[in-house]
Amino acid sequence: MYCVRNVTEDLFWVGGNDHRLELFENIHPIPRGVSYNSYLMMDEKTALFDTVDWSIARQFLENIEQVLQGRDLDYLIINHMEPDHGASIEEIILRYPNVKLVSTEKAYMMMHQFGFDIDRVEQIEVKEGDTLSLGKHNIAFVEIPMVHWPEAMVSYALTDNILFSADAFGSFIALDGKLFADEVDFDRDWLDEARRYFTNIVGKYGTFVQMALKKASTLPIEIICPLHGPVWRKDLGYILDKYDKWSRYEPEEKGVLIAYASMYGNTEFAAQSLASKLCERGVTNVHVYDVSNTHVSYLISETFRLSHVVLASVTYNLGIYPVMHNYLMDMKALNVQNRTFAVIENGTWAPKSGDLIEEFLDEEMKFIDVLSGRVTLASALNEDKEIDLDNLADAIADSVKGIE
Ligand code: FEO
Repeated sequence: MYCVRNVTEDLFWVGGNDHRLELFENIHPIPRGVSYNSYLMMDEKTALFDTVDWSIARQFLENIEQVLQGRDLDYLIINHMEPDHGASIEEIILRYPNVKLVSTEKAYMMMHQFGFDIDRVEQIEVKEGDTLSLGKHNIAFVEIPMVHWPEAMVSYALTDNILFSADAFGSFIALDGKLFADEVDFDRDWLDEARRYFTNIVGKYGTFVQMALKKASTLPIEIICPLHGPVWRKDLGYILDKYDKWSRYEPEEKGVLIAYASMYGNTEFAAQSLASKLCERGVTNVHVYDVSNTHVSYLISETFRLSHVVLASVTYNLGIYPVMHNYLMDMKALNVQNRTFAVIENGTWAPKSGDLIEEFLDEEMKFIDVLSGRVTLASALNEDKEIDLDNLADAIADSVKGIE
């Protein structure tokens, strides 16, 4: 059986959804699943844009067979060969042995590295500005290195102004029938997962995303077909604006993320107390997370969303609590910048986490402000420290309200 949808009259979504995979890239939880998108264009020549993860290959092959209706597949255009998209390339070659591959030099090199058996078919190497005519549709190729691997390119169908955007503009969450972003309440139901996808998968490469957006701005794009998540055919400015902000590391919202590491609930209480104090001061966009039971991918996503981050951590083995340290390392790896931090430390006999966190923020990360007035707790938030927490709440509230 098949499960396809029309994107336009002659372009078909032939991908599929995966609700079985627990961890994307074996690291990021995807409780609402993920889609692997592939698109088949029926013109004088037939062309498939990317393949899919092996987990849904059977469905994918049936979809293609249905759309082709007995015609041969002329081209397989590989915008991104990472195995969540490239895993079925060999299967396509086996089924359609006359197919010609179209991709970049680097992509072919990587396909060989992964051991993909591609040498039995013709390989057309394209670079920036090259075009391929399918008949009615002319396809132009644009390189977008590091979005999200170095070999990546996008394809642009000039006739209908369709951008096949590879990983760019993708999202976690399985489509479950709803192919277009305008068929869901994206802002309410999808944005958080789109942000978590972008920030954790591509977040490190903001400069490259900015270069890609610059190239995209020269094209009159009407439809965006990403490799994960919904197709965009309306309100493209919405998602372009989000990508612009995320890739410039600018917060989407004025607000405070309080991430705490607590062993017996005392640092947690200080975090909760600070949240209340901020709300009393009129700053209500406050979000509290326990780093021990929140996967770091969610913390990263929230860090990209909000303007201020409070790190509240116990001292552990005279260092930063390991899970908090992991969050810091991930922020560094993903290039988090342009944020204002505040610090609360706790330690029963030798509080050290505050010094170490501030040292990390100062030396390992870029364009970070740390508010003065760190709160140091000796085991618990006792009355004598209340004033310190009040002062910190004042400083954070003033800073949040001071943002243009
Ligand atoms: Fe969805 Fe970079 O692969």
